[in-house]
Amino acid sequence: MHENKASCMRTQLIGLGNVGKCLMRLLAEKTEALQALGIDISVVSISDSKGTAISEEGLDPAQVLECKRLGWKGFKQYIKGYSALEAIRQMDGDVVLELTPSTRNGEPGLSNIEAALSIRKNVVTANKTPLAIAFGRLMKLAERNEVKLLYEATVAAHLPVFCLVDSCFKADELLSVQGILNSTTNFIISEIERGTDFRHALNRAIESGWTEVDYSDDVDGIDAARKVVILANSLFKQHARIDDVRIQGIENVEKLVKLARKKNKKAKLICEILTTNGKLNMIVAPKLVSLDDPLATINEGDMGIKFTFKTSQQIFVSAQFSGPMQTAYAVLNDIIRIQACTKK
Ligand SMILES: NC(=O)c1ccc[n+]([C@@H]2O[C@H](COP(=O)([O-])OP(=O)(O)OC[C@H]3O[C@@H](n4cnc5c(N)ncnc54)[C@H](OP(=O)(O)O)[C@@H]3O)[C@@H](O)[C@H]2O)c1
Repeated sequence: MHENKASCMRTQLIGLGNVGKCLMRLLAEKTEALQALGIDISVVSISDSKGTAISEEGLDPAQVLECKRLGWKGFKQYIKGYSALEAIRQMDGDVVLELTPSTRNGEPGLSNIEAALSIRKNVVTANKTPLAIAFGRLMKLAERNEVKLLYEATVAAHLPVFCLVDSCFKADELLSVQGILNSTTNFIISEIERGTDFRHALNRAIESGWTEVDYSDDVDGIDAARKVVILANSLFKQHARIDDVRIQGIENVEKLVKLARKKNKKAKLICEILTTNGKLNMIVAPKLVSLDDPLATINEGDMGIKFTFKTSQQIFVSAQFSGPMQTAYAVLNDIIRIQACTKK
C-alpha cells in the first residue's frame, strides 16, 4: 500500500444532527484510510442551533458526540450563542460543511453557504433548499472566488449522480432523467403495499426517522421537487425554480397502489425531467410503473435514477438506503474530492 504524507484540511461543521453526527463517527472510523489517501481532516468548529464548539487544534469526534449527547454540559470549548455565521467569518478554515435542515426559505443554510463562499472557503452540503433556491448565484460565487461548492448528498444521498455524470458522460448529451429520489415516500408506499393505511404508514415513517423535519415536504412532493430543480440546474444547465416543477404528492396514493396491483404494475412517486425541443418538462407525481422498468425494483427507503443519454443511452443506478450514515459518506467523499482538486 502506498502512503502519502497527509496535509491537514481544516473543516467547519454546521449542524450536528443525524448527518453531522454520522460524519463525526465516520471521521473517527476512517482516519487511517484517509491518511493512506494523503488526507488529514481536522474539525476546528462545530455549530448547532445554540452555539459553537471550537478548537484551533481540532475537536475530538468521540468527545464531541458525547458532549452533544449531554447538552454540552461542562464542555469548555462550546460557546453558547456563538453562531455558525460568526464561526465562518472569524475562524480560519478551508471547508465549511453545511448540514442544517432543508427549510422552505433556505435559511440558515443559504446565508451560511454564501458567507463561506464570499470569503473563499470551499463548501460541501447535503442541504437541498439553498441550492434549489439559488443554484446559479451560488455556483457563480464559488467560481468567481475560485472555490468549490459540492453537493452530491443533496440528491439521493450517497447514490452517485453528479460525480457519475461528470466522470463518465461529460461529452454525451443528457436527454432525460427519471428517478425515485425521496426515500420517505417510497417507504410509505411499500408499507401501503403491505396493507397499512396511509396515516399509519406515515406515522411509521416519522417514528423510524425517515422524514424531513417538516414531513409535509416529503408527502407533498416538495423534497423531491427540490432535487429535480438541482438536477435540472446542474445537469441541464438551466435556471429552474421550484415553481417550474409540476408537483403532486402521495396523499391519495392508496387508490393508485390498488390499481397497480390489479394491472400487475407498481405505484411509485416518480421524478421526471424530459427535454422537448430544448425545453425542460419537470414533473413530480405518483405513477404506475411497469414491472420491467428498473424503477419498479426500488422498494422500501431505497432510491434509483435512470438517465437517458444520446449516445450511451440508458444508464440506471440504484442504492439501498438505510439512513444518515450513507448521506454522511457522500459528504465525506465530497471533502476528499475537494482535497484532490486543491492538490492539483
Ligand atoms: N438525513 C439524511 O439521511 C439526509 C439525506 C440527504 C440530505 N439530507 C439533508 O441534510 C441536512 C441535515 O439533515 P439531518 O437529518 O442531519 O438534520 P437534523 O437531524 O435535523 O440536524 C440539523 C442540525 O442543524 C442544526 N441547526 C439548526 N438550525 C441551526 C442554526 N441556525 N445554526 C446552526 N445549526 C443549526 C441543528 O441544531 P440542534 O442540534 O441544536 O437542533 C441540528 O444539529 C438537511 O438539510 C437534510 O435535508 C439529509
